Amino acid sequence: MPGLRIAVANQKGGTGKTTLALNLAAGLQRRGSTLVLDADPQASISQWAALGDDNGHLPAVQAVAQDDVPARIAQGTRGHRYVVVDCPPTLQTATVGDVLNSVDVLLVPIQPSPVDLWASVDITAAVRDSRRHNPRLKAFVVLNQLDSRNALSRSMHEALAELEFPTLRAGLARRAAYRSAAVEGTSVYGLGHRGKAAAREVEALIEELLQS
Ligand SMILES: Nc1ncnc2c1ncn2[C@@H]1O[C@H](COP(=O)(O)OP(=O)(O)OP(=O)(O)O)[C@@H](O)[C@H]1O
Ligand SMILES: [Mg+2]
Repeated sequence: MPGLRIAVANQKGGTGKTTLALNLAAGLQRRGSTLVLDADPQASISQWAALGDDNGHLPAVQAVAQDDVPARIAQGTRGHRYVVVDCPPTLQTATVGDVLNSVDVLLVPIQPSPVDLWASVDITAAVRDSRRHNPRLKAFVVLNQLDSRNALSRSMHEALAELEFPTLRAGLARRAAYRSAAVEGTSVYGLGHRGKAAAREVEALIEELLQS
């Protein structure tokens, strides 16, 4: 099976890029060798990886200067089945464009409010540009911090339907486990019982992604 290169990006801050990237990578690592490229100068993923050892189950993490991301993705695919890039909350077209040109899949975490969605809409232009060079680029919204008690509002459904790319059926609920995992230097998989419900939804997301 060929390798899969995934970027997690959204120019809006705090939508769950790092949370998604690290738990996705932890789940992928259970399937095959996985490399995380930390393209964010805030280095959140690198700090997380430095915190814990997680019994050796965490994927490899490398901090990488933004200019270097395409080259490092290419390098990474030689030694790893999966490469996940955690992008910074910017949309400097040159850099995000370079990343989008170098991956198979873009995941855009968005919180389930229309206001957040509209703040993320600029990335659709970047995807459109990138598809001229990288026509097979797939892009999906991943809903994050879903409130399990409430169904999505009708206005959110309408806003999602207007976006140029689809939303994965699997999303992530708002759960303490995601925060605990980050603080403890592990993933939701490494939390054992405490992370079980979260790990289940990350698994569903990975299965949907691998079948897309
Ligand atoms: N599903 C979730 N449930 C609970 N907390 C969450 C969830 N997703 C993210 N968070 C928390 O929200 C905060 C922001 O998440 P995160 O750092 O992943 O966002 P980000 O998009 O990477 O931010 P930045 O734009 O600064 O890079 C963190 O404290 C994180 O633990
Ligand atoms: Mg981040």
